Amino acid sequence: MDRTYHDPVMTQEVIEILRPVAAGTLVDATFGGGGHTAAMLAAFPEATVLAVDRDPEAAEQALRFANRVRFVPGDFRHLDVLLEEGGFHDLDGALLDIGVSSHQLDTAERGFSYHRAGPLDMRMGPSAPFDADEVVNGWDRDRLAHAIGRFGEERFARRIAGAIVAARPITDTGHLASVVAGAVPAAARRKRHPARRTFQALRIAVNDELAALADGLDAVLRMLRPGGRVVVISYHSLEDRIVKRRFADEARGCVCPPDLPVCGCGRTAGLRVLTRRPLRPGAGEVSSNPRSRSALLRAAERVAT
Ligand SMILES: C[S@@+](CC[C@H](N)C(=O)[O-])C[C@H]1O[C@@H](n2cnc3c(N)ncnc32)[C@H](O)[C@@H]1O
Repeated sequence: MDRTYHDPVMTQEVIEILRPVAAGTLVDATFGGGGHTAAMLAAFPEATVLAVDRDPEAAEQALRFANRVRFVPGDFRHLDVLLEEGGFHDLDGALLDIGVSSHQLDTAERGFSYHRAGPLDMRMGPSAPFDADEVVNGWDRDRLAHAIGRFGEERFARRIAGAIVAARPITDTGHLASVVAGAVPAAARRKRHPARRTFQALRIAVNDELAALADGLDAVLRMLRPGGRVVVISYHSLEDRIVKRRFADEARGCVCPPDLPVCGCGRTAGLRVLTRRPLRPGAGEVSSNPRSRSALLRAAERVAT
């Protein structure tokens, strides 16, 4: 495995949750550097593993698995369409390890890093309709402030948006990081990098990540066989909330008022939630891979309806 591309997170937990479906068709919908795929192949010799990613650089990583993995380029929000085109109609297991890979973050030319100067890009793949330059140098202050506040949960969103608009044209990520740092009060600069939340927000906006996650979950749930399992690892509360709500909604049976003598809605639970609370990485993993510290893992199993 290419350790420098991305260290997979909570691998042991993923493997244990997927073990009951080890002989089936599994999809790693966020292949990245293939760390989770490699673990699946090692633990489940009978599995058929399909790998999806929208980043062409991830496609290159898949080459080393030769014919052990079928790589399908594309956006997981269209997972069912992508896999059906390849002749796969049902899944026994699915993993979504969302967000960006370390490789994407650390490659200055991709434009995700506030530590390294690079172009204002941030597109995970060619399907993104616009890049970070369009957001940073093109959106008006209100739209920018809304995106930074919502997707970055940044309390100084309006000040930051105002500073960005005043500093235009912003030339690269280094320039952007210093404009953001200058816009937040000194006290807020002490803990973590002051541009972290703004960069997260821009990345989420450029890649439409929240809508992609919601659509991707729908697509996975449409394809999961009874008994099939889905595992989602997310890295911040916005994403985790989407997963939690979608699972809870699908796990709900009858929604009739309690005083109704017979069920009129006909609704039965389609999912059994396997993680009442999200699982977190252990202290050992966090110390050896600090980027795992914010990981939140949720899993569920399809039940026959
Ligand atoms: C956190 S990394 C996954 C790392 C991987 N589990 C590993 O072990 O190397 C997330 C990956 O998901 C991909 N990705 C994010 N959103 C996607 C989407 N909507 N469709 C397909 N791939 C996506 C990114 O390009 C990135 O390679």
